[in-house]
Amino acid sequence: MAKDKITVVGAGNVGATAAHIAATRRLGQIVLLDIVEGLAQGKALDMAEASGLYGSEQCILGTTDWSAAAGSDVVIVTSGVPRKPGMSRDDLLATNANIVKSVSQQIAAHCPDAFIIVVCNPLDAMVHAVAKTTGFPQRRIIGMAGALDSARFCYFLAAELDVCVDDIHCVLMGGHGDDMVPLPRFTTISGVPIAQFLSEAKIAELVDRTRKGGIEVVNLLGYSAYYAPAAGAVKMAEAILRDTRGVFSCSAYCRDEYGVGGYFVGVPAVLGRRGVERIIELDLDDSEKQQFGESLAHVKELVAAVDRML
Ligand code: NAI
Ligand code: 2OP
Repeated sequence: MAKDKITVVGAGNVGATAAHIAATRRLGQIVLLDIVEGLAQGKALDMAEASGLYGSEQCILGTTDWSAAAGSDVVIVTSGVPRKPGMSRDDLLATNANIVKSVSQQIAAHCPDAFIIVVCNPLDAMVHAVAKTTGFPQRRIIGMAGALDSARFCYFLAAELDVCVDDIHCVLMGGHGDDMVPLPRFTTISGVPIAQFLSEAKIAELVDRTRKGGIEVVNLLGYSAYYAPAAGAVKMAEAILRDTRGVFSCSAYCRDEYGVGGYFVGVPAVLGRRGVERIIELDLDDSEKQQFGESLAHVKELVAAVDRML
């Protein structure tokens, strides 16, 4: 059987880490692509040289040449500038919209059947830019952010309660910004709502830390997170390639769902071999609806800014 082919665009922090995780998980043939001559080639060579040490057969190529990406099943788009201390994700919009547009044109030309997992920020607006430029069916274009934000929330809860992080399940909605909407009411530890374990004040504190999870790392490092973001993107790629039907908080296209009206925004969705298999509609209460509406309004403003540019 032919191997699945995954192209990771951008060999910086998130992209190289994603390629490495995908290689060690033996997801298929991996192409790491960057605009900077030597960068993707050097990192891919380093990873390939580690294959004997992992005891795994790694199949990874670094390149600047888009023809190497031809026929990819999944393309993970990480090509874009990250933020620095003092910047918001929205400050990246103008620079990243142009990068994402040129990368999307290459994807459309070389990988017309691919599923695209978008990572660049501001996330939901960049997913829109990919969809607008490629014209691919919306179910094949998905933004990675909720996987990261919900992993952060799960980790904070696990650390607070000293329980296994695998047993914590949470849902997070809205745009990937400070107004994202973690949903404690739908967060459980092996099926038991977290309100049974934690006070309202403690839950509010952990929700706030989750909302600010990105900047917490930026302030420590001087640049943005990449291990957890890369792991989120690869887990989504794996769900698509292996048809796991995993449920992810991710930026998916919603027409009637949640009354969104035709935008990519963070919602719980089932991922499988057709990309977004379906969106799960939760029965939100008034406060949750209001928070989601405010976050969606922010996404719409960013999308309008992209539309004025592209
Ligand atoms: P980075 O600066 O380490 O890597 C970006 C890479 O993209 C660089 O190697 C650069 O040469 C490459 N690149 C730029 N233009 C290109 C083009 N036209 N074609 C191919 N490659 C190109 O940045 P990092 O930390 O990897 O972050 C990448 C993006 O992902 C940023 O926009 C960041 O904000 C975003 N991000 C999003 C997250 C999320 O949850 N959605 C989490 C973490 C980062
Ligand atoms: C994060 O949340 C930078 O969006 C990225 O870490």
